[in-house]
Order: sequence, then C-alpha cells, then structure tokens
Amino acid sequence: MRILAIETSCDETSVAVVENGTHIMAHELATSAPDHVKTGGIVPEVGARQQIIAMIPTLEKAMHEHTPNDIDAIAVTVGPGLIGSLIVGVETAKALAAAWHKPLIPIDHVVAHLYAPWLEGNIPTFPALGLIISGGHSEFLLLHDHGDVEFLGGTRDDAIGEAFDKVARLVGLPYPGGPEIEKLAKDGNPDAIPLPRPMTDTVSLEMSFSGLKNAVRLAASDAALDKADIAASFQKAVTDVLLRKIEYALQTYAPTSLIVAGGVAANTYLREKIVKTFADSLDVYISPLSLSVDNAAMIACCAYFNNQPMPIEEVVADPNYHSRTVGTSRRKKV
Ligand code: KG4
Ligand code: ZN
Repeated sequence: MRILAIETSCDETSVAVVENGTHIMAHELATSAPDHVKTGGIVPEVGARQQIIAMIPTLEKAMHEHTPNDIDAIAVTVGPGLIGSLIVGVETAKALAAAWHKPLIPIDHVVAHLYAPWLEGNIPTFPALGLIISGGHSEFLLLHDHGDVEFLGGTRDDAIGEAFDKVARLVGLPYPGGPEIEKLAKDGNPDAIPLPRPMTDTVSLEMSFSGLKNAVRLAASDAALDKADIAASFQKAVTDVLLRKIEYALQTYAPTSLIVAGGVAANTYLREKIVKTFADSLDVYISPLSLSVDNAAMIACCAYFNNQPMPIEEVVADPNYHSRTVGTSRRKKV
C-alpha cells in the first residue's frame, strides 16, 4: 500500500510517498525556519504564507516519479498545530483525494512523531511509553497498540523546545535556540546555578517550564553570571525533570519500550542521560534528527498503521486536534 502524506503543521512543508508504512520512496521537505530568525520565533502568519509558497513545488517534487495511479491513499496532518499552516496541507490533501478518488486519512501530528522508530526499521513492543518533546509539544503518551493511544500528561504552559528557544534569547543566542544552548552548555558548569525542577514532586506526568524560564531570566540579568554556566544549568534542569517524569511513568505504567521524539530529542546531553538511565530496563528508541523534525514520512507511517479514512467533507484542520484514541485535550493553559 502506497500512501502520499502531507505535513504542514508548523514551519515545515513536507510531502512523502511511503510504501507499506516503512519504505520511503519519496520524501521532500521545505522549511521556513530561516524566515523566523529575526523575530526569534515563528510568527504564525509568516509561517502560513510560506506554506502556501512551498506546498505545490514540494508536492511536485515528491510526485516526480509517481502518478496518481501509484497512490492508494492520501494522509494529512489535521492537527495539532498552527491553524494557518495546517489549512494549507489539509485543503491540498482534500483536493487531491477528491480529484484522484482516493481515501483520505486524517492524522494526529503528535502521535505521528512516535512512528520514527518504525521508519528506522525497528519494531517497538507495546505498551510503549512515548515522550514527544518539540517546539510545540511536550507530552507523554502510552501506546497500548496501534490505534490505542492514551494521553498521560503534558506541559501546562511552555513546550520544552519553546523554553530552549526563549532561554537562548535571554542569553543572546539566535533562533532556533536548542542547538545553540547545547553548544554553549559544553563550556559551562551544569551545577553552577541552582535552578528549580518544576513539578517533580507531584505524582503525575504534568509538567511546567515557565517558572524555570523565569528563573533563567533572573540569572541572565545578573551580569556576574557566566552565560555558558546558565545554558549548562538550564539544560541539566530540563533533563532532570524529564528523567524523573520518565521514571515515574515506568513505575506507574510498566511499558516495555520507550520512544522519544521531537526536535529536542536531538539534544546529545539529554539523549545520553536517557539511554544511560533507562536502557537497562527497557528498549529505548530516540529518533535521529532527520526523523525528529516535522516530516511527512512519519505521517505516512502513522497512517499505514492507523488506517482510518474519513469522508473528505469531515476532514478539517484543527489546531487543538487529538485523535479519538487519545481521548483528552492535551494542552491545558493555566
Ligand atoms: O520537532 P521540531 O523540529 O518542531 C516542532 O516544534 O514541532 O522541534 C523544534 C524545537 C525547537 O524549539 C528547537 O530549539 C528544538 O526543537 N531543538 C533542540 C535541539 N535541536 C532542536 N532543543 C535542544 N537541543 C537541541 N540540540
Ligand atoms: Zn512536531
């Protein structure tokens, strides 16, 4: 079965053709990230305009060696994400499904992130604990099986990547801040500045990073403190929070594998700590950067294993979407 998948939830425009869930036949990705450097983050309107510009050329490139006859179904990210960006991909997918008479499979972007290991040729066992850490999401999901996903908890405010980006700004580094903080942290002492580990004493998988960010703001305003020490201390604080939350999740839900995905999973310090702490207890899959960033291959893979087409007119872009199996609203702003 060949699926043509479209992903436009944020600042990446991606189209893929994937056979039987895991064989990537075509994979194209355009990003508007450079357009967001001067604003220090994504301006949704700017991101959406770039989606419109990139959508058709990216689709044409991905379909270069294919015809509609080769394609069995269309999959598309319907949310969560930025509404202006989502609409571009969703309406394109609906138009293709209508014109080519193909089934249309709506996909939950966050659940799709957890399909990176399958694309790498691995087969995680269920139940699998999923941790998605990106610029837009920080949440724990429990995959009981394909199509049976339980939301366990997430951030109440900033996503982890968002916190990395804001902290980078506070210490004068450009967007995206995660890789910059990681680089600077190499020259710093992770124990130099005492920072909070928010919500680690609560028995839940709820998280919060805005207090930590404010503590960094105070530290950054103190000229006597070294910026590299701030970066290293922040990175360690975030990692400590995640390690404690994962540990709590393992004790509570006893999964047999752990899947970590999303842009922040590219952080070497974090990856090493997670592997060192948990690899003896269960199978750990941390997606490589190429499959961690938003991409359409993961959307196709997720669609193959969760093949639930919907009538075209019922498929709509939804910034707060969660697939029916996830069952609860994932981001509670307080
Ligand atoms: O998954 P992603 O590419 O896009 C979405 O947000 O969906 O994640 C982007 C986020 C950004 O906030 C970026 O700063 C962060 O991932 N990031 C990192 C690293 N590389 C990217 N954070 C920490 N360390 C890194 N090495
Ligand atoms: Zn994402």
